[in-house]
Amino acid sequence: MSETESLDSIQPQTDLGRRRLLMATTGVIGAAGVGAAAWPFLSSLRPSAKARIVGAPVEVFIGNLEPGQLTRVQWRGQTIGIMRRTERMLEELPGLADRLRDPDSSVVDQQPDYARNVHRSIRPEILVLNVHCTHLGCVPQVVPEIGPQPFDSDWKGGFFCPCHRSTFDLAGRVFRGVPAIRNLLVPPYSFIDDDHVMIGMDPEEGAA
Ligand code: FES
Repeated sequence: MSETESLDSIQPQTDLGRRRLLMATTGVIGAAGVGAAAWPFLSSLRPSAKARIVGAPVEVFIGNLEPGQLTRVQWRGQTIGIMRRTERMLEELPGLADRLRDPDSSVVDQQPDYARNVHRSIRPEILVLNVHCTHLGCVPQVVPEIGPQPFDSDWKGGFFCPCHRSTFDLAGRVFRGVPAIRNLLVPPYSFIDDDHVMIGMDPEEGAA
């Protein structure tokens, strides 16, 4: 006996008759209405919304991103942070190596090859990062200020995950001694021009 049949068998007969009538009526309306309803629905989606649904690459304008500022977009259900780092922020990165678990991005599946450098990015100043914590997936806070913090007295700027207090530097590299053990993920991305980044598309290989 199928699941539908077994459910029918426990329905009162009056309800069953009404339900069959409703199903038949709905079927007629649905068949007539689907053509009319589908086009307005699809046409109401802007390209970026469609892109989000199918997981296609997402174009992001960064021309108005100020030094030190981070913006967030959604790609494939993940929050992607894009930050324009300052010279000072970049200068701090090499000196953090001794405090980091994987300073050289040796875990290869955490970033594309073009992001295996000290700043973990194509252009030093532009950071593109999946900002979900590699411990249990929370979205960490960005704490860009350099200076003592309650969670680190020698803070050089970075990401702090309040869920279980994992910390990452401003290249998304994880510090030693915190619950997370992997650097934040760098997604595939490329530059269309100086002001536009395409998330989900490698520079030479196309859509990831
Ligand atoms: S989810 Fe970030 S530290 Fe646990």
